Amino acid sequence: MFLVARSATKDGLTDTSSSSSNSENLPSETSDATPHQRRPRYAGKNPRRFEDKYKEHQPERYAGDVAKVIAAGKTPAGSHRPIMVPEILEALALQPGEVAVDCTLGYGGHARELLPLLLPGGRLIGLDVDPIELPKTTERLRSAGWGEDVLTTVRANFAGLPKVLGAQGLAGVDAMLADLGVSSMQLDDPARGFTFKTDSPLDLRLNPSRPPSAAEWLARVTAAELAKVLTEHADEPFAELIANDLVSSRVHAPVSRTVQLAEAVRQILYRHSPKRDPELVDDSVRRVFQAIRIAVNDEFGVLDQFLRMLPDCLKSGGRVAILTFHSGEDRRVKQAFREGLRSGIYAATNDEVVRAGFEERRANPRSTSAKLRWAVRT
Ligand SMILES: C[S@@+](CC[C@H](N)C(=O)[O-])C[C@H]1O[C@@H](n2cnc3c(N)ncnc32)[C@H](O)[C@@H]1O
Repeated sequence: MFLVARSATKDGLTDTSSSSSNSENLPSETSDATPHQRRPRYAGKNPRRFEDKYKEHQPERYAGDVAKVIAAGKTPAGSHRPIMVPEILEALALQPGEVAVDCTLGYGGHARELLPLLLPGGRLIGLDVDPIELPKTTERLRSAGWGEDVLTTVRANFAGLPKVLGAQGLAGVDAMLADLGVSSMQLDDPARGFTFKTDSPLDLRLNPSRPPSAAEWLARVTAAELAKVLTEHADEPFAELIANDLVSSRVHAPVSRTVQLAEAVRQILYRHSPKRDPELVDDSVRRVFQAIRIAVNDEFGVLDQFLRMLPDCLKSGGRVAILTFHSGEDRRVKQAFREGLRSGIYAATNDEVVRAGFEERRANPRSTSAKLRWAVRT
């Protein structure tokens, strides 16, 4: 049936969003008694810095402005557009009364689409590892009317799904969604250190309370390990050169900031080949950030663990849909579903990966690299 995948974004990181009916769902501008706020001062006609985009941070209040941002093919600051919603809904085929899990709640974009289909009588459990965004999303969904009877949110890694289900008194569920990687909110927030467009601490953690940060990891990693990560997580052609140089220079120049890492990688590549195309150099910078993010969050390790225990968390006839944005993720999902089909754990899976349609890719470039795979439990 279908498939999805996510690709490197301009700041060099993988990302998601979708063709959903986000703009339709935005409440119209309110006329409540909120006191007038003086707009932040910024240079130029439109705010450029994340923190100055005050209208985008308040979609309920500035729906018209937010709709314009979306129409321009951008994701409003502090939000996230769900990707491939119709394809995911078709794969999950939710029925009233069923129990579903959104393993990667994020902004709650997909959750908002799943919830109505589970009523009456059903419920959704939403997981996310991010302690900063999860409370905001929970509050947003509660304000939209999704009470504790139908929506439970849990801060947890999806690698620990059996424990989460056990705590809810559930042996298995009817449907499961995982939309892997990072959200637009995480990518765009300079304080999270996911982007080298702004100068911030080099963090790159989905859960910033769990060490190590990217800076700490980089301070300890060996050149051989770093080269392996750059090759295996991002296919970086200059992996060894970059790894050897970063590790040998960190004694006198430890890397602790995003722009510092970006500049260090650029310098290494220009020293090696002074006439190198700056765009290709920045492609390497993006790959270095992506590879380190995957390593710091052990993204492949937790996905492997999730895929191993997934069949035990699904009821017979249960459906799972997984959106990936990296070839290493898609390869793992494809292999697990195909092996499960061969061994009889799964009754069906898609032969061809499903991708976002032309319209969605045009409207939301972040959907371009998305790949969707689904499976049905025997
Ligand atoms: C692409 S976003 C999901 C967006 C969401 N589908 C939506 O429409 O708003 C991915 C989310 O998954 C979370 N995440 C990534 N890896 C995770 C893991 N192993 N366990 C739980 N949450 C994870 C990230 O913190 C992020 O919020």
